[in-house]
Amino acid sequence: MASEVRPGTEYEISLMRESNYRLQKVFAALEDMIEPGVSTWELNCAADQIIRDLGGVPNFFNYEGYPASICTSLNEQVVHGIPDSKTVLQEGDIISIDAGLIYDGFHSDAARTWAVGRISGDARRLIDVTEQCFFEGMKFALAGNHLNDVSSAIGDYAEQAGFGVVRELCGHGIGAAMHQDPMIMNFRQNEPGIVLEPGMTLAVEPMITAGGPNIRWLDDGWTVVTLDRSLAAHYENTILITDGRPEVLTMTEEEKARHPEVI
Ligand code: MF3
Ligand code: CO
Repeated sequence: MASEVRPGTEYEISLMRESNYRLQKVFAALEDMIEPGVSTWELNCAADQIIRDLGGVPNFFNYEGYPASICTSLNEQVVHGIPDSKTVLQEGDIISIDAGLIYDGFHSDAARTWAVGRISGDARRLIDVTEQCFFEGMKFALAGNHLNDVSSAIGDYAEQAGFGVVRELCGHGIGAAMHQDPMIMNFRQNEPGIVLEPGMTLAVEPMITAGGPNIRWLDDGWTVVTLDRSLAAHYENTILITDGRPEVLTMTEEEKARHPEVI
């Protein structure tokens, strides 16, 4: 990865807040568009336009040659699904949208998994557990703790719920680059990892499956699917380590009101 994340200055952190606040607006607009009949390309075009209207630039576009501005991953797709005008949402699907932007030199990155219309109870539980994995991690995203405290909380919660934890993909430091060290695994590590410090900005992103943890890449070189074709969900936020509870830069005040473990 590019470089190790270091605690940001007050000025840098203020720009991270600006960037990530804009990404909240992108997700709010996308959530309103989720319904049967919408193509993933329409979602991509809307996101691209909103990002630019907000004064940002989509940081995924052309990242290592990635051909779109967001990732749209349906059902057994875990991450990095490529938007396409022929891929149309259907009642009962689950869709994971991963998006980010760069604003005034600073990156934001987040993902949500949403239901398209009515979904099965199993799919709902997968989405809920994946979100809760993130918040279990947040209980340990405290200055002075080690990174593995976060990874372990995420992975242990998923596994005790009977779900698979994707091991080949991870979260990351974020700031002046989208991907910085450290890599943030979603399962228990043998090493404690770095000590968390106030001012660090991190993208924490559990990727959880309803079946086995194994994945493969489709021939497009990007789309990651579960090997057993079980459903997968993804939930990601960019966070700031503080002197107290972690500040989640990509959650709205309304979302945060439901989650006392974060500010
Ligand atoms: N947002 C992804 C991550 O969380 C990166 C996507 S890069 C892309 O790290 F090229 F696939 F868009
Ligand atoms: Co990320």
